[in-house]
Amino acid sequence: MKKIIALALVLVMVLSLAACGSSGSSNDVKTYKVGVAIYQYNDNFMTLYRQEIENYFKTLETDTVKYEITMVDGKNDMGEQTNQIDTFITQKMDVIICNLVQTSSAEVIIDKVVAAGIPLVLINREPLGDNGDESYPGIINNDKVCYVGADARQSGTYQGEIVLALDNKGDINGDGVVSYVMVVGDPENPDAQYRTEYSVKALTDAGVQVKELVKNVGNWDQTKGQEIVAAALAQYGDEIEVVFCNNDGMALGAAAAIQAAGRTVGQDIYLLGVDALDECQEMVQKGTMTGTVLNDHIGQSHTAVDVAVKALNGEPMDNYYWVDYVKVDASYFG
Ligand code: BGC
Repeated sequence: MKKIIALALVLVMVLSLAACGSSGSSNDVKTYKVGVAIYQYNDNFMTLYRQEIENYFKTLETDTVKYEITMVDGKNDMGEQTNQIDTFITQKMDVIICNLVQTSSAEVIIDKVVAAGIPLVLINREPLGDNGDESYPGIINNDKVCYVGADARQSGTYQGEIVLALDNKGDINGDGVVSYVMVVGDPENPDAQYRTEYSVKALTDAGVQVKELVKNVGNWDQTKGQEIVAAALAQYGDEIEVVFCNNDGMALGAAAAIQAAGRTVGQDIYLLGVDALDECQEMVQKGTMTGTVLNDHIGQSHTAVDVAVKALNGEPMDNYYWVDYVKVDASYFG
C-alpha cells in the first residue's frame, strides 16, 4: 500500500512538472529589449511622439511576444546621448530607436550601433553627414539602419501656401511686400532649415515680394519664441505682417507676445506654426492662429515601431520611410 501511495505521489509530481513546462510559462515568452533615446523630454511634439511609441509597442504585444522598453532623455546634450547609446550597446538591446540630439553626429552613432550588430531606427531628426551635407540619397546605406521622418520641405511649403491662400496673400498694409519675422527652431536641424527656406520660397515662387525683418533662433522653445516675437514687435510694430515659426511650441509663445502687444491675428498680423498640437488646432479653428501643419506623430511613431519589429524579426529595412505632413488652416475644419 505504502509503495502504491509513493508511486501515486511521484506520478502527481511528474504530471504537475509537465504542466508547468507547457504554455504560459516564461520559457515560451520572447521578450525583446528596445532602447529608445529621445533628444529631449522637454519638447511638446517629442512628448506626444515618445508616448505613442510606448503605447503602440504595448498594442503589439501578444501572449508570447513582449517588448521591454528602456526610454532615456538626452537632455539636449549629445555627450549624454552618446553615453546612453553606449549603455544600450552594453545592455545588448535587440533594437535601438534614436532621436538624435545633433544630426551631425549621426555617423558616429550609426557606426557604433552597426558595429555592435544592433538594428537602428533614427527618428524625427534627419541624419546629416559630418559636413552637414543633405542626407538623401543619404549616409544611410545599410539594411540595419533607417530614418523615419517627414520631409520638412513639405511643411515649409505648406506654411507659405496657407499665406498665399489669404485674400491679401499676407500683404496686410498693401505696400506690395510681405514683411515677416522668422522664428527658427535650431539652425543645425534640417526641419528648421527647410521650414525656414521653403515657407518663404512658396511666396517668392508665386511672385510675391518679401522682406525679412527679423530671423532669430528659438530652439523649438515656447519661452524663447515669445521673447523673440515680443522684441520684434517692439522694434518693428505694424510693419510686421506675418510671423513664421518653425514649430507650434514657439508659435504658442509668439501668440502670447502678439496678444500682449495688442495685435490681432487674422486682422493686423498672421501667425504660422508646424506640428498641429491640439491647442494650436483649436487656435486655428478660433482664428487666433492663421495656420499650422500637421506633423503626424502617430504615423511616424507607428512606422518607427513597425520597422523596429521588422528588424527584430530579422527582416531587412528600407533606408528611408517618409510620412506626409497635412496643411491645417481654417478650411481644414470644414
Ligand atoms: C517638430 C518640433 C520639435 C522637433 C524636435 C520637429 O519635427 O516640429 O516641434 O521640436 O521636431 O526635433
